[in-house]
Formats: sequence, C-alpha cells, structure tokens
Amino acid sequence: MAYDLAAIRRDFPALDLKIHGRPLVYLDSGASAQKPRRVIEAMAEGYAHEYANVHRGLHYLSNLATEKYEGARAVIARFLGAAHEDEVVFTTGSTESINLVSYGWAAPRIQPGDEILLSVMEHHANIVPWHFLRERQGAVLRWVDVTDSGELRYDQLEAAIGPKTKLVALTHMSNVLGTKVDARRATEIAHAKGVPILFDGSQAAVHGPVNVAEIGCDFYAITGHKLYGPSASGALYGKQERLAEMRPFKGGGDMIREVTLENVTYADPPLRFEAGTPPIMPIIGLAEAIRYLEGVGMAEISAHEARIRDLAREKLSALNWIEVQGDAADKGAIFSMTMEGAHPHDMSTILDQSGIAVRAGHHCAQPLMKRFGVTATCRASFGMYSSPEEVDALIAGLKTCRRLLG
Ligand code: ALA
Repeated sequence: MAYDLAAIRRDFPALDLKIHGRPLVYLDSGASAQKPRRVIEAMAEGYAHEYANVHRGLHYLSNLATEKYEGARAVIARFLGAAHEDEVVFTTGSTESINLVSYGWAAPRIQPGDEILLSVMEHHANIVPWHFLRERQGAVLRWVDVTDSGELRYDQLEAAIGPKTKLVALTHMSNVLGTKVDARRATEIAHAKGVPILFDGSQAAVHGPVNVAEIGCDFYAITGHKLYGPSASGALYGKQERLAEMRPFKGGGDMIREVTLENVTYADPPLRFEAGTPPIMPIIGLAEAIRYLEGVGMAEISAHEARIRDLAREKLSALNWIEVQGDAADKGAIFSMTMEGAHPHDMSTILDQSGIAVRAGHHCAQPLMKRFGVTATCRASFGMYSSPEEVDALIAGLKTCRRLLG
C-alpha cells in the first residue's frame, strides 16, 4: 500500500502551525517528535475518566488504570520483539534506562581497572552514567572510533574487547550523524568474547523495525518522546537472566516483596525496578504511539524516510558551501551541517524566521564533535511525517543563511 503522507500529516495537529507567519517545517524530530492526535486524546481521556494509581487499589478506576498501564508492557515487548513481557521495564526514557543498567547491573560488577567499551558517537546519556563508574569505582572507559564517513570501526570494537571488558554500550543510531550500527554484528562480536552488550535505541527504534531477539543483545533502551509519544516515558528491554541478576536502583513502593523493620526483599523483575508511583499516563500514551506506528508500519516508515534521506542527501550535496558531517552508507534521515563563517546558532535562528525548526549545538555528543573537529552543527532531523517539500524548504532556508551570513 502506498505511504499516505498527507493522511499521516493530518494526524499531527502541530503540523498545521504557522510559525512567524510561515507553515511549520519541523526538522527537529531527532530531539523530540510531534504527537499524533490519538496519543493526545488517549492521554486526555485517561486523565479525564480513567485515572487512578496503579497496582494499589481494588476499586474500579485503579483496576482500569492498572490494566491499561500493564497492557503497555505487551505492546512494547511486541514492538521490540522481546520474548517475554517481563523483559520490559518501564522508565522515563533512555537516560533512565541506561542509568538503571549502570547502577543496577554494572556497578556491583566493577572493580578498579574493569572496562566499559563505548563508541565516540554516543549521546551523553550513554556516556555520563559510565563516567560515574569511572569516577566512583575506578572503571576505565575505552573508546571505539568511527571512520571519517561516520561508520563504526567494528575492527576496533573487536580488538578492544579484552578480559577486563565488563560491558559494551553502543548507540544503535547516531543522533548526530544518522549512522546506523549493525547491532547484530556488534552483538556477535561482544558475545563471542562473553561480554554483554547494551544498545541505546533512542533514535533507531523510531526509524525502522527493531527486534531484540534477532539482535540478541542484553539490554536495549528506548525513549517515548522521540517515538511520537509523551515525554517522561520509555523502557529498558533486558534479557530475563540479565534483569534477574540486577539489583534495584531506586527504592520505594511497589518494588518490594516484603519490608520489615530489619529487612527488605524485592519483587521480581520488572517491578523490582519500578519504585514509586510510575509515569502512568506517559506509559499509556507511549503504548498508544506504538500502536499508531504499527498501524502505519515500521518498515513503511523506514522506506519513506529513506526516500527523504536520499532526496536531502542529493540536494545538500549540491550546496558546496554546506558541509555535512558523516555520510555512512547505512544512515537515517539526520543531517548535521556546518557552513564556513557561520555559527550554527545563527543558521538556526535564520531558518526559524522561515518557520523551519532545526537543532543547533553539540547535540549532547561532545566527544563526537571533537572527533569531527567542530564545536557545534546545525542539525535537520526528519521523521515519519516529513515531506519532499520540507526538504526544498530547508534548501531554500540554507540559501538564505548563505546570503545573510556567508
Ligand atoms: N537526544 C536528543 C537530540 O539528539 C535530545 O537532540
């Protein structure tokens, strides 16, 4: 079936906005995506008529909210290809998911000198939690480089894993370069040496099908606000045996088996990792966003975005005064650009005057900026609702930048 872009765009109320008198061209989905109406409505209805705390009440509304909230576990498990619902831990996003692995799984295993292996194209969310282990427990962070076109150096990955490596933690798709990492290949490399692997799927899970069972990874983090769902929603997939060996990170209600004056015992995963009143409605909203994505089809979304990527790649390459960082063969529709003599912030401000939303800065990936010898870029990130006309609008906006700044 043809990809009905016009119908998809109608599902997103924000895409009707006029910004500075011009139609919104939203090219900042990599930072946070717009929300389809049915997610907004599901949450409004949930707050209006279906709200109570979960797991705690025996009354009608608590049961209803619990059913909807717990129902999200199956939806996320299906979306990620997890074998069991209880391999899905609800979190507030990838940042919390990765911190949970750092505190809950890695910290108790780290002796001074033990190594965590990362790539230079990680987002800070997959760097800083590991720096905590370096600062506090003497872990050593080892780094795998990328090529000049932004491909992961699989040869370095393989060579860097040694007897002291405790975990490999990699992005599945760079938020700056758009590079897709071959997750299965990286997993095979790590597992061949007996080392568990985590993927930060914040970007990758949005742009195409993910199947953690096929990848074979130990942990996979996703974040709802990039998945066209609410902020403060997300999940950690963890293999059953990994979650079983993990200690809780936050303590509080709902994660215990029994609490006495002298002792505490914990609930089984995943509840063991979900202390306190959780982000009930964001998780319900995330499940609705995933149902929406599944209705369109992740493979169809991926194919649409590949067309947009190819178009943008071609048109940007004709602007010989724009440099795009990274050009991996397998990359998503994310373009980080610099223009000689122009600060990315100024480019972003000029584009905004034409209603074009992009992100400018270091994109929470300072080591990658350093690797490419820049301090900031101007990033256009496309999504399921992006149109060829929006690529043209970007090109026209960049020409204005050139006229005013070049
Ligand atoms: N991680 C988000 C980005 O790449 C915020 O912009």
